[in-house]
Amino acid sequence: MSLQNDSQTVYLKDYKPPAYTIDTVDLIFYLYDQGTRVRSRLAIRRIPERGGVEDPLVLMGEELVPVWVRLNGSELRADEYEIDDQSLTLLNPPETFILETEVKLAPEENTALEGLYRSGSMFCTQCEAEGFRRITWYLDRPDVMADFRTRIEADKRKYPVLLGNGNPVESGDLPDDRHYAVWEDPFPKPCYLFALVAGDLKYIEDKHTTPSGRDIQLRIYVEPENIDKCDHAMQSLIKAMVWDEQNYGREYDLDVYNVVAVNDFNMGAMENKGLNIFNSKYVLASPETATDQDYQGIESVIAHEYFHNWTGNRITCRDWFQLSLKEGFTVYRDQEFSADMGSRGVKRIADVRLLRSYQFSEDAGPMAHPVRPDSYMEINNFYTVTVYEKGAELVRMQANLLGRDRFREATDLYFERFDGQAVTTDDFVQCMADVSGEDMSQFKYWYDYAGTPEITVSSYYDPDQATCTLRFSQQVPDTPDQSGKPAFHIPIVIGLLDKNGIDMPLMLGPDELSQGLLALTRAEQEFVFTNVVEKPVPSLLRGFSAPVKLRYDYSDEELMFLMGHDSDGFNRWDAAQNLSQRLLLALVNQYQAGDAMEVPEKYLVSFDDALERDHAEFALIAEVLALPEETYLGEQMDTVDVDAIHMARQAVRRTVAEKLESTLLRRYRQLSESGDYQITPEAIGRRSLKNLCLSYLMAGESSIANQLCLDQYTSGHNMTDMISALKLIADSNHPEREKVLADFEERWRHDPLVMDKWFTVQALASREDTLSNLTRLNQHQEFSLKNPNKVRALIGSFAAGNPFRFHAADGSGYQFLTDRVLELDPLNPQIAARLLRNLARWHRFDQRRQEKMRAELERVVVTSGLSRDTYEIASKSLKI
Ligand code: TRP
Ligand code: ZN
Repeated sequence: MSLQNDSQTVYLKDYKPPAYTIDTVDLIFYLYDQGTRVRSRLAIRRIPERGGVEDPLVLMGEELVPVWVRLNGSELRADEYEIDDQSLTLLNPPETFILETEVKLAPEENTALEGLYRSGSMFCTQCEAEGFRRITWYLDRPDVMADFRTRIEADKRKYPVLLGNGNPVESGDLPDDRHYAVWEDPFPKPCYLFALVAGDLKYIEDKHTTPSGRDIQLRIYVEPENIDKCDHAMQSLIKAMVWDEQNYGREYDLDVYNVVAVNDFNMGAMENKGLNIFNSKYVLASPETATDQDYQGIESVIAHEYFHNWTGNRITCRDWFQLSLKEGFTVYRDQEFSADMGSRGVKRIADVRLLRSYQFSEDAGPMAHPVRPDSYMEINNFYTVTVYEKGAELVRMQANLLGRDRFREATDLYFERFDGQAVTTDDFVQCMADVSGEDMSQFKYWYDYAGTPEITVSSYYDPDQATCTLRFSQQVPDTPDQSGKPAFHIPIVIGLLDKNGIDMPLMLGPDELSQGLLALTRAEQEFVFTNVVEKPVPSLLRGFSAPVKLRYDYSDEELMFLMGHDSDGFNRWDAAQNLSQRLLLALVNQYQAGDAMEVPEKYLVSFDDALERDHAEFALIAEVLALPEETYLGEQMDTVDVDAIHMARQAVRRTVAEKLESTLLRRYRQLSESGDYQITPEAIGRRSLKNLCLSYLMAGESSIANQLCLDQYTSGHNMTDMISALKLIADSNHPEREKVLADFEERWRHDPLVMDKWFTVQALASREDTLSNLTRLNQHQEFSLKNPNKVRALIGSFAAGNPFRFHAADGSGYQFLTDRVLELDPLNPQIAARLLRNLARWHRFDQRRQEKMRAELERVVVTSGLSRDTYEIASKSLKI
């Protein structure tokens, strides 16, 4: 079993350009509730200069039932081709020819949600990364780009809307109450960008005029009951189009842009050319059903998929090892867009939080891989926080190294040089090098090597010479198949603060350091600043200028000083987080030693100060006062102790609630809003600080807090406030807990996205009965393993977001997860494999838990008929 699976590893070093290409694709879909067929006509051509003369032609295909195969019009003889469960091989094909095939598909039985499948009453597709081969035989690789024409035929009443890529060219009626539509995409594309939709859908429509004066028709298609929840998505789309025109000089290139929301979707959304398909979670919003976070998620995912039109579609990836070429760059673009639409400082903090809690731990575990991986078993397992979020950080570093104007020149060059091509991350970096004149070869290590660089800094002040020396050392840790890594080029933005908190000039000898940017390029390196008239407090890694772990031995007083004075907003927040982290880890030690946990007075004073501050943005205050997450704290320990971490956090929360109750109450009341729900950054910040106050108050378990929370739930006019209250009630022993949960269920039973929230608040509860509730909810009428959103809401959030209960010492959480993974694997391998990742970091826990986690992984790895997706995660997790 393991032999067979291991032999399926794909290596970057084996990449060869294709020996054949496909120029045009004509598809006809005969859609039926049962008995769907696909006819395909491919114009194929050998590329002799690529040395393909000897090769037979292997077209990929999975789960296809062949009807016939014709080459240049005549049916193939049995000795001219071979078909197995992975491919169609033409043994001796001519130079150029037309290949026609017809296959039968069963979209109604497709629970993997890859290829052509049904979501509710509609047909839809998902082809990235390798789903197109489940639709027809094809050279399913991104460096084969073709012109596509799609004809869709279906029952007219059940499927009045028929959508494809590109522009609509023809439609009409057919016998038997059927009809058809033809779509043509004038831009050559890889097949992973193919899409179709057929359903009974309604749409909202708008128009955008590009700078060159072209009118684009914009439509968002949804199931009829959701038609009043599309406005925010449409406004976000228009903002994204304008932003890309202004910031990258990119405008849209087809006459129509269609977005379709579906309920069953493996990921967030998909950038199919001219026909984006979205998880409905990232389209539908109304104040009654969606939270502020949902609104922000929609804005950023709509923008992300739109931005892919240039960074992904017009210029695509040569092979799947280059995935970050499109994903890293597009995430960077959507991050900057969101920063411009809302609060830049808060956005940066949120992005760094995500990177530090998920990407850093991925990078330190058995699934660690470079931003440009060099091998994989199943590509679906490489849509990771490393490829997406760390990839975005690599683009961000390059943008900062070049500066605004030259980065724009470099991206202009990139779009000009590679339009219409399938390229590599090296090609991208080369544009940066060509424009800046810098040698980027050392910078490229960031793409080649996994692991988070660790930097240690010390400072030395010489009052006689008036110099301050900063000494840096860097080290990139070993990861599963890489050791002994070279020094990286790490951009470190710094400042030196005088005693009033003012930035001193940064003189390196005779030169003033521009923008405070140091280039760390060696394993050990020092910088001597001159004309430093007093001992400074260094502010390091401003704006989180590189995705690294940086250590400097600050005193608590220095951290408080930075928190109050640093001109860099990110570092003010980071200093506060550092202080909280120190306190929490000290309490962890006290708890482990059996001592009483003491929260020092000075912490409460600075908390009170920050809470009362009214010149700062509300959202920033909330970020400062939010304690580091349990999972993040665990990462800071040699052996994760989930119990001690939970108790330490609770102790701080309870002490704050008791000692600062009156400030919290005053702040809570003062922040309560009246009037209509608004989604301005100001209003979002106000709600987040208000709800943070409520959560601290609830930690005190006072009857006053219970009453406030219940009132907020009952009178809440928007989902942000309602779900905040519900989450706190679900996590507590509130006397009305069961009643409130039942009330919410009763009210929202008909709305799947809102029910996801109901499942999640129960999965996240730290109560003792959480696992038994989960076992019950897993059987709930509205729960289904076949719906990825439901799986994420109930099981995913338990395993990833409730470490205290998931890591229960008796292993019951692990067993629950593994049972679900094994049930899900035959239905949807992608989602099963993602769930299983929650066991990958077993080596971070104590001996007993390690054994229990490993035992579950073993149980998975020996299961027969396991998917490649799940096998890869299980086997690699066990290997270290
Ligand atoms: N390209 C998509 C995005 O970044 C990701 C995606 C959507 C995807 N659906 C998928 C990746 C299914 C793998 C499998 O927005
Ligand atoms: Zn993407």
